[in-house]
Parts: sequence; C-alpha cells; structure tokens
Amino acid sequence: MISRRKFLGAISATIAVGSLYPGFTWAATGSGVYIPGKDGMIVRSERFLDLEMPPELFNTWITPVPHFFVRNHMHEPSTLNVAEWRLMIGGEVEKPLTLGLSDLAKLEAHEVTNTLECAGNGRAFQQPHVPGVQWERGAVGTARFSGPGLRDLLQRAGLKSTGKHVMFRGLDEIPGKVPPFIRSIPIEKAMDSDTLVATHMNGEPLTRHHGFPARTLVPGWIGAASCKWLTEIKVLDKEFEGNFMKPGYRMPNQPVAPGMDVNPNDTHPITSLWVKSVIVSPSEGPAMKGWTFDIRGAAWAGEVDIGSVEVSTDDGASWREAQLGTERAKYAWRLWSYKWKPPKPGDYVLMSRATDSQGRTQLPTAAWNPSGYLYNAIDRVKVHVKG
Ligand code: MTE
Repeated sequence: MISRRKFLGAISATIAVGSLYPGFTWAATGSGVYIPGKDGMIVRSERFLDLEMPPELFNTWITPVPHFFVRNHMHEPSTLNVAEWRLMIGGEVEKPLTLGLSDLAKLEAHEVTNTLECAGNGRAFQQPHVPGVQWERGAVGTARFSGPGLRDLLQRAGLKSTGKHVMFRGLDEIPGKVPPFIRSIPIEKAMDSDTLVATHMNGEPLTRHHGFPARTLVPGWIGAASCKWLTEIKVLDKEFEGNFMKPGYRMPNQPVAPGMDVNPNDTHPITSLWVKSVIVSPSEGPAMKGWTFDIRGAAWAGEVDIGSVEVSTDDGASWREAQLGTERAKYAWRLWSYKWKPPKPGDYVLMSRATDSQGRTQLPTAAWNPSGYLYNAIDRVKVHVKG
C-alpha cells in the first residue's frame, strides 16, 4: 500500500515527468515505493535514487532498461527541456563547440555493449562493515549504449597537445553545499574509439534515470566514469581534483589491513573494473526441493575478457568449470551455468570463482578499503537441499 500523499505525489510527478519523457509508466517496487518504469527493483535509497537489480532479474545477457540499476549522488534534473539542452566542449581545444541533441544525432553513431558496475557494488559484504550504499550483487547491468564517439567530438573541437585529461559535468540538482558531480578521465581513454557520448540505451533514447539526453560511456571502467545528464566536456592539462576524484573513487596504493585508515595521498583513482563473478540462482533462503539444480550467474572483468568460471559445491574443497554462455562482447559480462546433483540432502556452500583472460582470479577475500570499492571476493551462497 502507498500513502495517499505519496500516491498524489506520484500522479503529479507522472504528469511532470510524463510530459517530458513520453512512455514512462509507474510501477511498484518490492518496498512499496513507486518508481516510474522500475518494477521489482530493490530501493537502496529514495532521496537520491539508488536502485539495485535483485538476483532473479539477472536472467538476460542484455539487461532491460527497467531492470538496470540506478545510482545517483544527488537529485536527477527535475526539468530538462530538450530544445534548450546544450553540450559545451571547451578547455584545451582550438574551437570550443556548443551542440544540441539534433547536432549529436547527425554524427556517426557507434554502439558498445558494456557491463556497467558501480564501484560500490558488493560493499555490503565487506568485513568489517564500511559506510555507504549497502549494495549486494545487483549494482551492475549490461546494455547496448550508442551515440557519437567522444574522440570524434574532441577532434572536431581541435584537441590541443596540452590536453591531458577530459572532465565531464552533469546537470544533477545539487542539494545545499554538496560539491557537484564532476570527474575526469585521462586523454588516452577519452580518445579510445569505444568511449562514447551515448544518447541511446538498448536502442531507445536514454531514460531520465540513466542520463537523458546524453551521458558519457567509458567502457570497462567503474560506473562513476560515465557521467549522466552531460552538459559540459572540458579538456584539462591535468587531472580534475574535485571531491569525486579525491578523496572519492580512489584505491589505496598498498594493501590495507581491514579497518585501517588510509592516507588520501597514498591512493590512486579507480579506473577499470576487476574480475568478478556472482551467483544469481539459487539464492539463499527457502530450502531447495529436487535432485538436480542449475547454478547460474554472471562474470565480468572490465576491459578484458572472462577466461573461465569455476564452481564449488563443497565450500571450496573442489572446483569444476562452469559452462559460459555463448553471448559475448568486449566489455560485456558472460552468463554462466553449472548443473549440480547434490549427493544427499543437507546444507551446502556454493561458490563461484572467475579468472580473466590475463590470468587474474578472484580471491576468497576482497582487497579491503575504507569505502568498500571494487568488492570482488569469490561469491558464496549457503543453501539447504531437502531432496
Ligand atoms: N552522473 C551524474 N551526473 N551524477 C551521478 O550521480 N552517478 C555515477 C554515474 N554517473 C552519477 C553519474 C555512478 S556512481 C554510477 S555507478 C553510474 O552513473 C550509474 O549509472 P546508472 O544510474 O545509469 O546505472
């Protein structure tokens, strides 16, 4: 049940949002909070919307937009008039540009199938506990992003040799004195032919939650690199130094004992995702009835491929190779499955362990850091088989 106030709020928001984004529908989430077009998602936060995909929705290689996680540091733009929206490109360039959405539509579009994961995905499993959104497995999804190449835009603007980093600014509504969500990426990644100013996701214009009308898509890197509601691209002669670059989104230069403080000057910005796998079925909970089960999951490794996924059904004593799904693309996850016949009823610990094409393997524990970034320990699910 939702309260009358929330219901009326939802209706007026539908009118406001619906007129800007035709096709939006309201849908109930498991928590009873109503989020347009996001049925069945776990609501991790309502104020600054954070939505997680539950394990049972990891059932397609391409994640439908309604099931794609949402991570917002602040309010989404409440009004955004497409006719007035402009993308400015400036800084270390010969001829600064100002483009509208119709200008972007005239440029050659590229499509990149990318697994986007929030750097904080899995934070809930860090030991000891770290503050922040308590994501479990589902702050990740795979979509086909398309739009002009960032490289093409920078070349049109006449990139100067002094340009070393590229900064992105979004149109988030900033509450109070919070620093704006501005980050930068090095020029080499910005000039990679796969880095996009994406206007479409799975063949449709971006929705508001995912950055309408344009976002950057920095494939293989943490989600924070891909700026939503993009309005400014600025070429800089050095890395941007705002809050979301430092102290935000950095990893310690050396391994850190769990729970210890880290000197921000002894850290580096996070770039690519690490090798990781998750078990999405079965999930912990009700006892399982039967004699054969499909253990299923997904595995990804940022800028490189998945080499293999192994499964253990005896708490890590022995490992067998899982079957990788046939659908694949550079930067995209592989779905995997393993047929399991438990020898007898009882309690079991199921585990999954991925190895990437460079030979890097998931370990039993993740590299601890005070923000709980890049959690990628071997996944574990406890189940009870009734037989
Ligand atoms: N861009 C802006 N402007 N504001 C944000 O809060 N969140 C970032 C990134 N881009 C964010 C942003 C983070 S932390 C992630 S993980 C991804 O967007 C999430 O993208 P999604 O919400 O489309 O899944």
